[in-house]
Amino acid sequence: MLQLISIRSLRRASRVSVQQTLKANRYYSTRFGYTLSRCLVFSNFGQPDKVLKLHSYSIPPPYDDIINVKFIASPINPADINQIEGVYPEKPEFTLGLGTGEKSAVPGNEGLVQVISCGSKVDPSIRPGQWAIMSGPNFGTWRTYAQARKSNLIMLPNIEGVSPIQAATASVNPSTAYRMLKDFAELGAGDYFVQNAANSGVGRSAIQIGKEWGFKSINIVRDRPGIDELKEELRAMGGTEVITEAEARDRRYIAQITGGQPVKLALNCVGGESATNLTRILGHGGHLVTYGAMAKLPLSIPASALIFKNIHCHGFWISAWSKKNEVARYEMITDIFDWVRDGKFKDIPYETIQWSEDTELEKLMDPIRKGISEYSGRKGIFVMEETGNPS
Ligand SMILES: NC(=O)c1ccc[n+]([C@@H]2O[C@H](COP(=O)([O-])OP(=O)(O)OC[C@H]3O[C@@H](n4cnc5c(N)ncnc54)[C@H](OP(=O)(O)O)[C@@H]3O)[C@@H](O)[C@H]2O)c1
Repeated sequence: MLQLISIRSLRRASRVSVQQTLKANRYYSTRFGYTLSRCLVFSNFGQPDKVLKLHSYSIPPPYDDIINVKFIASPINPADINQIEGVYPEKPEFTLGLGTGEKSAVPGNEGLVQVISCGSKVDPSIRPGQWAIMSGPNFGTWRTYAQARKSNLIMLPNIEGVSPIQAATASVNPSTAYRMLKDFAELGAGDYFVQNAANSGVGRSAIQIGKEWGFKSINIVRDRPGIDELKEELRAMGGTEVITEAEARDRRYIAQITGGQPVKLALNCVGGESATNLTRILGHGGHLVTYGAMAKLPLSIPASALIFKNIHCHGFWISAWSKKNEVARYEMITDIFDWVRDGKFKDIPYETIQWSEDTELEKLMDPIRKGISEYSGRKGIFVMEETGNPS
C-alpha cells in the first residue's frame, strides 16, 4: 500500500528543508508501518545469471539506533560482479535475516540512500530527507529499502548541485583515482602521470582530478571504431594526450609527447602487456600503482625496469584504505562534491535501469550481463523509483 506521510509531520520531526521533505516522504509501507523492500539476493557464489534471484522482504519501523533508508541509485561496478562470482576478497555476510529459505546476501557495494525515518536513539543530526552514501563495502546496495546504522553511512550534509548519479558513484571510482594520484608519487603541477583503461570510470576520474591539481596525463585506451571521438572526449575532459596501446609502445612518440620529461606515476587497471608498457613509459624512480586486472593476466615487469630504472610497484584497494581513513575519506568526498558543484567533474557515461516495485528479474539482470561481457562504455546504474534530488 502506498502511504504518504503528511508533509507537516515530517517537517516538524526532522526540521529539514521543505524541498527535502517533499521528496523524502513517499515510500511503500504496510498498514503497520512495515516497508516492503525488493532486492537481488544470492545464496551461493557463481555466475550472476545462475545465482541471482529477486526477493521481497518487510522492514519494520526503525527503533533505537536504526535508520530506515530508501535507495536512490546503486551502480553496477566490476567488483560487484566479481563478488557474486566469489573471486573478490571482500565477501558479504550471508544471513537468514532477509527471510530467504537459505542464508543469502544482497549484492552491490556502492550506492546513495535517503533517510526516511530514524529510531529514538539515532544521532539527532541525522534527519529524514538527508542523503548518505555507504561508509564501506558489503552493505548490499542492490535493493530498494534497508535498515542501517550511523556507522554504515557517510551523511552528505550539502548535496546542492550534486545529482543522484554523481553522489551514488563518488565513493569508489573518483575516490580510487584521487588516492592513487595523491598518495604514491610526489606529483607537482606540470608533472606527468600515465594510465591505461583511461576511458574507465577510474580513468576518467583520474583525468579530471589530475587536471584540477595541474598534472599532465598520458591516457592509454584500446583501439576501436570511433577512436578519434573517444580521444577527443578524453582530451576535452582534461587529458593532456590520449593514445592507443599500439601508440604507447612507440618510445619516440612518448618522448615527443613529454618532451623528455620523466613520467612519475603509472596507474594500471589492465595488467599483462599493457602494464609492461607502463613500466617502459615510467621515468627513473617512477611508481606503478596497480588497481585493476581487466585483462585477467599477471603483471609482467621487465627486470631492467626494477634494476636500472628503480621502478616502485604498489597495489591499491579503496576498500582497505577506506576502513583506516574515515576522516580523510570524508574530506576527499567533500572535495569531489565541490568539484562536481563547480562543474569541474563530469559524470561518467552511464545507463540507468529504473527499478520500481514491480520490476522483474530479467530487466535487472540485463545490465549485469552487460557488465560481464565486453565493456559497453556505459556504467549500469539502478535508479530506484521516486528518486528526487532534494537540493
Ligand atoms: N582497487 C580498487 O580500489 C578499485 C577501485 C575501483 C575500481 N577498481 C577496478 O578497476 C577496474 C575498472 O573499474 P571501473 O569501474 O573504472 O570500470 P569501467 O568504467 O567499467 O571500465 C572498464 C575498463 O576496462 C577496460 N577493459 C575491459 N576489458 C578489458 C580487457 N580485456 N583488456 C583491457 N582493458 C579492458 C575497458 O576498456 P574498453 O573500453 O577498451 O573495453 C574500460 O576502460 C575494475 O577492475 C575494477 O574492479 C579497483
